[in-house]
Amino acid sequence: MKVVVSIGGSVLVPSVGSDRVAAYAAVLEDLEAAGHDLGVVVGGGPTAREYIEAGRDLGANEIELDQLGIAVTRLNARLLIAALEDSATPVPPEDHETARAALQRGDLPVMGGTEAGHTTDAVGTALAEYVDADLLVYATSVPGVYDADPNEDPDATRYEELTAAELVSLVGDLEVDAGSNAPVDLLAAKLLQRSGMTAAVVDGTDPANLRAAIDGDHDGTTILPDES
Ligand code: UTP
Repeated sequence: MKVVVSIGGSVLVPSVGSDRVAAYAAVLEDLEAAGHDLGVVVGGGPTAREYIEAGRDLGANEIELDQLGIAVTRLNARLLIAALEDSATPVPPEDHETARAALQRGDLPVMGGTEAGHTTDAVGTALAEYVDADLLVYATSVPGVYDADPNEDPDATRYEELTAAELVSLVGDLEVDAGSNAPVDLLAAKLLQRSGMTAAVVDGTDPANLRAAIDGDHDGTTILPDES
C-alpha cells in the first residue's frame, strides 16, 4: 500500500528528545519491511510554537513567523531521518516534486514544511494527492476528530467516520494564524476533499496506531470521500 503519514510535531517531538522519534522510526521501518511505500511529513510541535511566540513578541509578521515554523519542522524531520536506516532521504525534501521522485526511487521521503500560509497537514495531504496514495494518515495529539475540543469539553464525542465535506465544515471556522492549534487545517481538509482519498486521523502519541490505521483497525476517525 502507498501511504503518506503526517506526524504532528507535538507527538513526534513533544520536547526535544529521542525516545518518541526512535519509536516512530522503528514502526516506519517495520511498515517498509512489510512492503508498504511510505512518505512522511513532520510537524513543528511545541518548539515551533515557542519560536513563533518569540518572533511575534519581536514584531515579526505572519510570513516571517511561518518561516520560523517551517525551519523547525525541517529540524524535526532531520531528527527522524537520523533515526531511520538508509532508506530515508538524507535531507528533508523542500518541495513535493523532490519527495515524489524519492518515493519513485524506493526511498522514504521525510519532509517538513514547504511554504508559508498552511501547516504540515496540508503538505502531507498534497503529497498524498500528488503520489496517488492509497491512504493518508494524520497522526495527531487528539485521537480523532471530535464534535468539541476533548481537552476542554468532557462530553466531546469522537466521530468514527466523516465525509471530507463534513470535515471541511468542521474545521472551516478555525483560525489559520501561525502556530494555530487546529487538528487538521482547512487547506488540508479541502485538498483531501478534492482528491477523493481516504484518510485516518489517529492518536499519534502511540506510533503503533500507524500500523492500525493501515490495517483499517484504528480507534480514530476515518475520513471518506464525499461520494461514499
Ligand atoms: P505545523 O505543521 O507543525 O503546525 O507547523 P501545527 O498545527 O502547529 O502542528 P503540530 O503542533 O506540529 O501538530 C508549525 C507552523 O509552521 C508554519 C505554520 O506557521 C505552522 O503553524 N508552517 C508549517 C508553514 O507556514 N508552512 C508549512 O508548510 C508548514
